Amino acid sequence: MNKINPGVAIVTGASSGIGHVTAKALQNAGFRVFGTSRRAVSKKSDGITMLTCDVTDDASVAKLVDEVLAQAGRIDLLVNNAGMGLLGGAEESSTAQAQALFDVNVFGVIRMINAVLPTMRRQGNGRIVNLSSVQGFIPAPFFALYSSTKHAIEGYSESLDHELRPFGIRVALVEPAYTRTSFEDNLARPDQLLDIYDAARASMTIAVRTAMEKGDTPEVVASTVLAAATDPTPKRRYAAGKMARQVSFLRRFVPASAFDNSLRKQLGLPI
Ligand SMILES: NC(=O)c1ccc[n+]([C@@H]2O[C@H](COP(=O)([O-])OP(=O)(O)OC[C@H]3O[C@@H](n4cnc5c(N)ncnc54)[C@H](OP(=O)(O)O)[C@@H]3O)[C@@H](O)[C@H]2O)c1
Repeated sequence: MNKINPGVAIVTGASSGIGHVTAKALQNAGFRVFGTSRRAVSKKSDGITMLTCDVTDDASVAKLVDEVLAQAGRIDLLVNNAGMGLLGGAEESSTAQAQALFDVNVFGVIRMINAVLPTMRRQGNGRIVNLSSVQGFIPAPFFALYSSTKHAIEGYSESLDHELRPFGIRVALVEPAYTRTSFEDNLARPDQLLDIYDAARASMTIAVRTAMEKGDTPEVVASTVLAAATDPTPKRRYAAGKMARQVSFLRRFVPASAFDNSLRKQLGLPI
């Protein structure tokens, strides 16, 4: 049993969306919460201490962890939530753009984890919750790079959980489906657009917007993160919300060809 009592939590990307609501939910559950944003924000917001951090910058991550330790002396929970999306044809992004996305969604997570692990190992206790996505197990067209980042996080988290268990540290994944946040507004656009993809990219953009409008509230995801953070014996993966649970089930049990056909049909792509 590795029961995590409310303690000190860091939530990256707590300035908006899922991170903001998660920080609040953890605080309500008794955690002392440090949230991060790249921008300088009001130091105390709703009882949450906001600190500046860019997860793509080693020095910024080290400074954040030093600041939390100086103020709170320990770190019991890290929620790696900061992330961004990119909608476009796979070949419409330069290698530099792909690397920049991985730098936030994958290497940002690795930087944060490497920075908190010495403290968690010393404590003999800790929990890490990584925000994946249904795109971490269902790659969607026009999301090849984003989906790759979330697949990377899935594999990384599973390996890491095996390695860290002897130290009393567990790693869990939370997999949301469409969630009503600024995620869509913040989607990066490809940096080398090709007009052959214009029509398909535009229809995918509309499909995503429509799905987002009907998506889960960030509160649904926050309550799942809270469960992943506090379950005495954490599961490896937590699908967040009804849609994520349904597609996770279907992905495992529906034959691959039927799943493929159904996905293409839903997105209006030729079978
Ligand atoms: N919304 C969805 O439909 C959905 C579905 C599945 C998974 N997710 C995942 O959920 C997580 C949160 O997304 P969201 O929907 O809440 O999006 P959001 O509202 O756009 O929030 C993204 C957060 O990430 C932070 N961030 C971005 N780049 C950063 C960087 N380089 N360093 C530090 N922080 C950075 C932003 O903070 P600042 O701009 O203040 O720095 C912001 O707080 C992401 O990992 C996303 O992939 C979202």
